[in-house]
Amino acid sequence: MIVILLGPPGAGKGTQAQKIQTAHGLVQLSTGDMLRAAVAAGTEVGKKAKDFMEAGKLVTDEIVVGIIADRIEEDDCKQGFLLDGFPRTAQQAEALDNMLNHKNLNLDAVIEMKVDDEALVDRITGRYTCANCNQGYHEVNLKPKVDGVCDNCGSTNFNRRADDNRETVSSRLESYHAQTAPLLPYYETKGVLKTIDGMADIDGVTSQINDVLGSLA
Ligand code: AP5
Ligand code: MG
Ligand code: ZN
Repeated sequence: MIVILLGPPGAGKGTQAQKIQTAHGLVQLSTGDMLRAAVAAGTEVGKKAKDFMEAGKLVTDEIVVGIIADRIEEDDCKQGFLLDGFPRTAQQAEALDNMLNHKNLNLDAVIEMKVDDEALVDRITGRYTCANCNQGYHEVNLKPKVDGVCDNCGSTNFNRRADDNRETVSSRLESYHAQTAPLLPYYETKGVLKTIDGMADIDGVTSQINDVLGSLA
């Protein structure tokens, strides 16, 4: 199964991808996570991407399409994958169509996670992740069971993203509305768009996604 999670910054794409990937045998492919890893490792891609990311602007199509094209060739993608944060422009959507056609694969669903802009700012400014295993948390909405200790791996070190501040969030939202939201009618025309209520609580969103995935199986 090949599924896209499409939604604005802070909509819950990463949270849901982490929760549902194992249950459905899908691998989470987050271009944001891959780019942050490239920045941290100081690779050529990371050097090119850093300034765009810190300004809340989209990295070039050439870079992200290259990353995804390489990644989907890996063995763990054979059973299917869950795209989190890709595609984000018309050119990326076309490039994905071409990649899938080339491999004789079908896009099963594009799940739009609809969330109000005001809620996104709270979600993003309260977010942090485990420095060791990347498990996501939120100061109010998703705390570890034991304060200061990752549920998943026991680490006591946590990170905040360089782009999770109010100024950058508004630029990320602008990029979403100008460049990514226009993909919604594109996928609607193809008959694969499923819209869910991303304002529900985390488990409520998961169950809506499970319903969509269940209807495809
Ligand atoms: P990326 O990392 O993809 O960031 P984003 O799209 O801005 O999305 P986020 O990761 O901020 O949000 P999310 O939807 O994953 O929310 P989360 O689950 O964490 O991209 C970063 C940058 O990389 C881009 O700005 C760009 O520069 C570059 N980039 C990446 N892909 C690119 C591409 N394809 N093309 C060009 N450039 C690209 O949830 C947020 C918080 O809310 C968490 O704390 C969570 O616990 C909480 N939460 C989640 N769900 C709920 C809920 N239902 N109720 C209450 N709280 C919730
Ligand atoms: Mg994310
Ligand atoms: Zn951890």
